[in-house]
Amino acid sequence: MSPSRHAVLAEGLQKRYGEKRALDGFDLAVERGSVHGLLGPNGAGKTTAVRILATLLRPDGGRAEVAGHDVSRDPRAVRRRIGLTGQAAAVDEINTARQNLVMFGRLFHLDKKRAVRRSEELLEQFGLTEAADKGVKEFSGGMRRRLDLATSMILAPQVLFLDEPTTGLDPRGRNEVWEAVRSLVADGTTVLLTTQYMDEADKLADRIAVIERGRTIADDTPAALKQQIGGDQIEVVVTEPADLGTAAGAVARVAGAEPVTDEENRRVSAPVTDRVSALTEVVRTLQEERVAVEDIGLRRPTLDEVFLRLTGHRAEEPEEPEGPDGPEGQGRPEGPEETEKQGAAA
Ligand SMILES: Nc1ncnc2c1ncn2[C@@H]1O[C@H](COP(=O)(O)OP(=O)(O)O)[C@@H](O)[C@H]1O
Ligand SMILES: [Mg+2]
Repeated sequence: MSPSRHAVLAEGLQKRYGEKRALDGFDLAVERGSVHGLLGPNGAGKTTAVRILATLLRPDGGRAEVAGHDVSRDPRAVRRRIGLTGQAAAVDEINTARQNLVMFGRLFHLDKKRAVRRSEELLEQFGLTEAADKGVKEFSGGMRRRLDLATSMILAPQVLFLDEPTTGLDPRGRNEVWEAVRSLVADGTTVLLTTQYMDEADKLADRIAVIERGRTIADDTPAALKQQIGGDQIEVVVTEPADLGTAAGAVARVAGAEPVTDEENRRVSAPVTDRVSALTEVVRTLQEERVAVEDIGLRRPTLDEVFLRLTGHRAEEPEEPEGPDGPEGQGRPEGPEETEKQGAAA
C-alpha cells in the first residue's frame, strides 16, 4: 500500500449483519485529490463500506486505510482527517445557517473568532451568504444539503465521504449540490461519493467503482466503463410501429451487432463503429423505403447499460416514481438511518 498516492485503500473488506453479508470482499483504491464514485443499487453495501471507512463500524475481515492510517488500528487518526455527510441533514432547524456553522465550529473546538471566520468562508464557498441569516427551516432541499456539506468541511478534511448526497432532491437541488462538490474538489479535497445514479457518477467522478452485493465488480473511468459496452449506439425511433422491421433491417446493415428493437417506444438501436457513415447510410435507406422517422441519432451508452452488461441485470431503481431527472422531493428509499456527522470532536 502506498499512503502517498491513495487517500482511501480497502482490501477484501467483509461485514456481516447476522446471516446477511453486507460486504463480501470489498476493494477500493481512491487517489488523493480525486472524486471516486461508488455506484450501486439499493442494498449493495455502499453505506456499510462508508461507515467502515469512517471508523463508525468495524469490519469482520479485510483491511482499510484512510489518509494513510489503518481504520481498525488507528481510528482516531482517521477521524481527525475525514468528514462525513450522511443522507439526513444534521443541522438545527431553528437556527440560521450561520448559527449552525458557528455552532459546529465550536463543537470542533475552534475558538469563537476562528469559528466565525470559517463560517463566513464556507457560506461563501457553498453559495449561502445571502441566506446566511435565514432560519434553516425556510431552506430548500438543495440549500440544506449544501449547508450539511459546509458543516462537514469545517475542519477542511483531507477525505470527505458523501453518502448519497442528492437522494431525495429535485433536479435543481441536485445541480446545486453537484456545484458544491466540484468546488470542494477544486480545493484539493478527496471525495468518495456513493450514488445510485449513473448520471451523477458520470458527471462528478474521475473513477467509478461499481458495487454489487458487497463486492466491487468494476472500477474504471466513466469513459472506459462506457467503452466496455462497445462504443456509440445508433438509435432510430419510427413514427409507425409497422415500420419497425424495416428500420431494424436498415440498422442491421450498418451496425456491428444485432439491433435491439423496443416495440413499446418504436425504437431500434445497435452499436456502431463508424459513426457518421452509419448514420448517413441509415437515413438514406429509410428515406428510400419511405419510413417516417420521429427521431434518429447517435448516443454514447449510459452507465445503466454498463451496469446491465457487467451484472447481467438492470441496476435496481430507487423506489419512488421519478421523471427523467430523478426522484423529486421524496425521502430516502432505504429505512431509517441515524444522522451522521463527525470531525475532530468525535
Ligand atoms: N444494521 C443492519 N442490520 C442488518 N442488516 C443490515 C444493516 N445495515 C445494512 N444491512 C443490510 O446490508 C446490506 C447492505 O446495506 P447498505 O450498506 O445500507 O447498502 P446501500 O447503502 O448500498 O443501500 C443490505 O442488504 C441491508 O439490508
Ligand atoms: Mg446507503
